[in-house]
Amino acid sequence: MKELLNKIVSQALDAVSQCADSKSLADVRVRFLGKNGEMTAVMKGMGKLSPEERPQMGKLVNEAREKIENALAEKDKKIKKAELCAKLSAEAVDVTLPSKPTRELGSVHPLTRIKNEIIDIFKGFGFSVAEGPEIETDYFNFQLMNVPKDHPARDMQDTFYIDENILLRTHTSPMQARIMTTQKPPIRVVVPGKVYRSDDDASHSPIFNQIEGLAVDKKITLGDLQGVLTAFAEKIFSKDTKTRFRPSYFPFTEPSVEMDVTCSICGGKGCRVCKDTGWVEILGAGVVNPHVLDMCGLDSNEYSGFAFGFGVERIAMLKYGVPNIKMFYENDVRFLKQFNKEA
Ligand code: PHE
Repeated sequence: MKELLNKIVSQALDAVSQCADSKSLADVRVRFLGKNGEMTAVMKGMGKLSPEERPQMGKLVNEAREKIENALAEKDKKIKKAELCAKLSAEAVDVTLPSKPTRELGSVHPLTRIKNEIIDIFKGFGFSVAEGPEIETDYFNFQLMNVPKDHPARDMQDTFYIDENILLRTHTSPMQARIMTTQKPPIRVVVPGKVYRSDDDASHSPIFNQIEGLAVDKKITLGDLQGVLTAFAEKIFSKDTKTRFRPSYFPFTEPSVEMDVTCSICGGKGCRVCKDTGWVEILGAGVVNPHVLDMCGLDSNEYSGFAFGFGVERIAMLKYGVPNIKMFYENDVRFLKQFNKEA
């Protein structure tokens, strides 16, 4: 029996040493130590031994079993290690390979970019920034702006009414009244925001962006307005941009002006954008109408002010030579990408 055990052990060790993977090792375990395995057969045969022989043989069987177990465990470790190495090298990632193209990076929309640029310029002049409601009352949008009900000047701005007294603001000017009725001068503020007009062609959109400006203090004059707006035009277009002011009419400013700048596309020589005049109109402005100051609770004998308002899209179209306002809203990436160079 001792010999049989030795034989089984040496066969088992032999079989273990020949195993190359977990599966064959598992087979060897079953073959020698399993329920119907060779060692189990020997153990079953122990019943036939005499009581004196039994402990001695039991010891030998246990030793043999232990040897096989140890060999299996050791081999198991080796195989697992080899398998892990093989798996790791098969799955190795070459970190030097260029990555697959992923989603493209987005960028700031050209209108937002230009709006921020404009706001930065006015901040540099000492203006603060305010925002107000797009759904506005007739009172702020028109009446406090010196446009009473049934006044013909209402025709200047085609209005989307919600009901008789509520509308989508047609300009950012109602914020002049909202600020003047709540703040004491000195006031220097710009107001960016969306405005709405029933108007739709290559240079007009029913929703567009305006920037309003308001300065109220003692002794503010039309000269201050011209100085600030000329400095603004030089900064947003170019240093050699010239400005000119033409008389105009707005109910809330007196006198009222429109400001033209030398065409930024042709530099004033004449082109399609400026219709060969060398000049383009960019904004409306004027000295705050004393009646508006008084209606808003500021004494027009003590204070005066200037105000201006312009379209962000218009500035962007002139600055970049964009022929159609709709291009800003279509979000065609080929268009948008062109503004992303200095990002
Ligand atoms: N609110 C006027 C417009 O939208 C522009 C403007 C603002 C004119 C301030 C004068 C003063 O047409």
